[in-house]
Amino acid sequence: MDYLNLEKKSLNPVVEELNQLLAEYHIYYQNLRRYHWHVQGSNFFDLHVKFEELYTSAQLSIDEIAERILTVRQKPIATYKEYLDMATIKEVKSVDDHKMVEHILQNHKIIIDQMRVVLDKASEAEDEGTTDIIAGFLSSLEKSSWMLDAWLAKS
Ligand SMILES: [Fe+2]
Repeated sequence: MDYLNLEKKSLNPVVEELNQLLAEYHIYYQNLRRYHWHVQGSNFFDLHVKFEELYTSAQLSIDEIAERILTVRQKPIATYKEYLDMATIKEVKSVDDHKMVEHILQNHKIIIDQMRVVLDKASEAEDEGTTDIIAGFLSSLEKSSWMLDAWLAKS
């Protein structure tokens, strides 16, 4: 049954960009896990908890994005090989806590840029369902970015 009442062809660019977003998010997620585990030093307690908070939020966003793709009757990309091939976010390997926060902020910038691409495509396709989901994630990630930036400025 066609419950969407949206032009299937116009949704293709939206799905393409949502899959790109999914790829970026997965590498970002694993970067956060790495830093959650590898962080050391006097900022351990702050950053260990903050990274967990961010990857828990990313995990929820990842699932929502994939299920949005399913809702519009397409298949989300679901292998790490494809994510690694597609993502512009790279795996990070710093041991310095300040560098860790900088890397995560850089990852945010890439994800935020990709979200804006998704929002553009969704707007063209009049796909307000996607707009609604992504706009919420975007403002939340912007807020987290501000906090990380504030942490960097102070220390
Ligand atoms: Fe943990």
